[in-house]
Amino acid sequence: MRYDFDTVIDRRGTHSEKWDGMEDRYGVSQEDGLAMWVADMEFRPPPEVNEAIRRAADHGIHGYPGNLAPYHQAIVDWMDRRHGWAIQPEWISTTHGIVNAVHLLVQAFCQPGDRVVVQPPVYYPFFGAVTFNGCELINNPLVQVDGRYRMDLEELDRLSGPAPKMLILCSPHNPGGRVWNRAELEELAEFCLERDILMVSDEIHHDLVYEGYSHTVLASLGPEVARRVITCTSASKTFNLAGTMTGNVIISDESMRRRFQLQMTRCGINFPNRFGPLTATAAYNHGDQWLEDLLVYLQGNRDRVDRVVKDGLPGVTSMPLEGTYLAWLDLWGTGLTMEEIIRCVQEDARLALNHGPTFGSGGDKRMRLNFACPRSMLDHALERLVSAFRDRGN
Ligand SMILES: Cc1ncc(COP(=O)(O)O)c(C=O)c1O
Repeated sequence: MRYDFDTVIDRRGTHSEKWDGMEDRYGVSQEDGLAMWVADMEFRPPPEVNEAIRRAADHGIHGYPGNLAPYHQAIVDWMDRRHGWAIQPEWISTTHGIVNAVHLLVQAFCQPGDRVVVQPPVYYPFFGAVTFNGCELINNPLVQVDGRYRMDLEELDRLSGPAPKMLILCSPHNPGGRVWNRAELEELAEFCLERDILMVSDEIHHDLVYEGYSHTVLASLGPEVARRVITCTSASKTFNLAGTMTGNVIISDESMRRRFQLQMTRCGINFPNRFGPLTATAAYNHGDQWLEDLLVYLQGNRDRVDRVVKDGLPGVTSMPLEGTYLAWLDLWGTGLTMEEIIRCVQEDARLALNHGPTFGSGGDKRMRLNFACPRSMLDHALERLVSAFRDRGN
C-alpha cells in the first residue's frame, strides 16, 4: 500500500461537523467520544490535492474562479476511465454540492403538489428536497430479500392517484450499501420511461464499490434512458472533499440542461466555490492509485466490522456492503428498544452513530456506522460497542 490510512489525525477543534458537532447532536463528549456518523473520512486526500491548495494559498488571492475547462475535462476523463461513460464537458453544471443540486432539480422540474418518489431507508436530505419545495413525498420503501435491499417496483405500480413526476435514486444506495446491478437499473428505467417519470440519479458514492461489484451509470443504459436521467456526482465522497461543497449535475439533453441552468441563475448560483474545482481536478487527475489503495483499506475495515458484529454482538447483524463505507447495523435481535440502543451506543460506548429512523421507513432499531477511519480507531470503537452491549445484556 503506497498511501497511509493508519495515522490517526485529531480533528477535534477544526470546525468539523462530525467531531465538533457530536456533543450537541448526540451528547457524546468530545473528550473521549468517537465520531462515526457524518459521511466524511478520517483520511487526507491524495497529496496532490493539498499541494494544489498550498499553491493557491502561497499565491494568496482567492477571487472568483473562472475557466472551468480543466475541471470539466478531468470529470470527462474520470467518467470515461473509471465508469466507461462518455460525456461532453458542456453537459456538466457545477452546484454547491449534491444536496443543493437535488433541491434545484426538484425546483426546476416539478411544480408544487407534484409527486416525487424516494426509496427509504435513504439519505434523509432527499425528503426535505421534496417537501421544502412543496411537492408530495412518495415513500416506496425498499424490501429486504436474503439480507439485502431490493427496489419494490410492484408496490410502486400499485400507487393510486396522479403519476409521480420524478424519482430520486440513490446509487449506490446509502444506507445499506447496495450497488444496484444492471438488470435492476434496467427494470427501474423501463418502469420510469413507461410512466414518464424523470429520474434523478445521485451517484455520489459511485467510486466506493468493493471487489465483486461494479457500478453502472444509470444514464449509460442507452440514449432513450439518458434523455430522462439526470446524474449527480462529485469528488467529495471519493476523495474526502465534502467541505468544498461542490457537486456536478450531468444532463445530456440540451433543453433540460437549459431549464436546470435557469433555476441555478434564479437562485444566484453563478460561481462555484474556488476550492471545489481546484481540489477535484487534482484528485481526478492524480488520484487513481490513492483510490485503489483506499478501497483495499476500506474493504479490510468492512470485513472487520462484519467479523466483530458476527462474533461479538449477539442479536446484531450488518447488511453485507457492496459499496460505501457506511455499515448498516440491524439491532432488532437484541430485544432492546430504540431508546435503549441509543443509550447503549452513546452513553456506554461513547460513540456517535447515525440513528436509523432518521433515514425514514425501515430505519427503526438500526444504526449507521461510518468506518472510513484508521483501523486502530475502528478497533477501539468496536471494542467499546461489544463491551457496552455485553454489559447491558447482564
Ligand atoms: C447519497 C448522498 N448524496 C449526497 C450527499 C451529500 O452531498 P453534498 O455534501 O455534496 O451535498 C451524501 C452525503 O453523505 C450522500 O450520501
